Amino acid sequence: MTCGVGVIGAGTVGGGVIHTLLNNGDAIHDKSGQTVRLRHVADLNLDPLKEFDLTGVTVSTEAKALISDPRVSVVCELIGGVEPAKTFILEALNAGKHVVTANKMLLALHAPELNEAAVRNRVELRYEAAVAGTIPIIKALREGLSANHIRAIHGIMNGTCNYILTRMSEEGLAFEDVLQQAMDQGFAETPPDLDIEGHDTAHKCAILASLAYSTPVRLDDLYVEGITGITGQDVAYTREMGYQVKLLAIIRQVNGAIEARVHPTLVPDEHLLAAVKREFNAIYVESDIADATLYYGRGAGKLPTASAVVADIVDIARRDGAPAPEPFRYVHDLPVREMGLLRGQYYLRVVTEDKPGVLGTVCAILGHHGVSIASCTQKDEHGASPVNVVLMTHETTEADVKAALAEIDALENTAEATHLIRVL
Ligand code: HSE
Repeated sequence: MTCGVGVIGAGTVGGGVIHTLLNNGDAIHDKSGQTVRLRHVADLNLDPLKEFDLTGVTVSTEAKALISDPRVSVVCELIGGVEPAKTFILEALNAGKHVVTANKMLLALHAPELNEAAVRNRVELRYEAAVAGTIPIIKALREGLSANHIRAIHGIMNGTCNYILTRMSEEGLAFEDVLQQAMDQGFAETPPDLDIEGHDTAHKCAILASLAYSTPVRLDDLYVEGITGITGQDVAYTREMGYQVKLLAIIRQVNGAIEARVHPTLVPDEHLLAAVKREFNAIYVESDIADATLYYGRGAGKLPTASAVVADIVDIARRDGAPAPEPFRYVHDLPVREMGLLRGQYYLRVVTEDKPGVLGTVCAILGHHGVSIASCTQKDEHGASPVNVVLMTHETTEADVKAALAEIDALENTAEATHLIRVL
């Protein structure tokens, strides 16, 4: 049987999917025995389609025409954003069509409603490309690791941030210069705020947390901190201490609640995630039966993302019209844990005047809040003003560190808000 595909959105990823369907039918057939045919493409701007030979493919500016095309059984939504993507997906599901999407923001905000529509209509909603592009992490969680309780997930899931942090660390470049290069290379969002403020990673974090623990996870409940506060000094100082700064999504279950958070994290040099450089993504999953597994690859880009979209289409085609498999179900309704309860080590850079007694006051405040200091170094020459005092704490709670910093930052000698980075 031939599986007919419709692609809504002929932009970067859509173009990659069209290219793959037109050129890699042989590989698809060899691996799956299926014939997958592009039947219909819809976009308001048809210019990008000029590069393709679309003989036999319907081209339209109306997504509704594509959804109702009887030759289309799988609809790919590749326009991104919330609307009209959500409407198109719901219309396709309600019309009995399977849907494949790469739309992480939409899923992070509306997955329960979309999943429910897929279940009700007995069709599939698949979104492997929405999280870390080429990396089959959704398949790993739903299939490869299905016998496991997930202990923790640590993910580098934004290529732009990892590219910036890598080049700041290895070449001592300034944040703004590297950001411009990431934008020029085409993997940063336009504008790149979703990347550098951590929201793109948060979308992926919410999707993975839901899958890992079979629970709806509201985006608003996640703690999200991007990399705009990371300075060259912090990258250099922490590198001397044996760490790489990475923007991580961290997901785990603690005492019946979900920890789901996104923030810059100091990853020890010996951890596998410290070796993930430039725009590459990687996800480290710890589970009770399989133990540790690591997934690595490109998280963005025209063809890498298309690879994941087309793999979802092929999986649907493999069923050859048989009923959709057991859908993803929310079995639990777990709360997201308060950030103040987090336990861990903290890197602190206090920027202060170099005067006798200042360091004593800072350490006394930390001690008063029960925060024990593992190391303390003044990074500048005596006489410089202000100076950087770098502290590493022992394990403590986020609430205690934050309470201490509120007092330290209010001291008259403190020159700017203390820089804080959590340690893995
Ligand atoms: N802009 C994202 C990144 C790619 O830099 O990884 C798509 O999520």
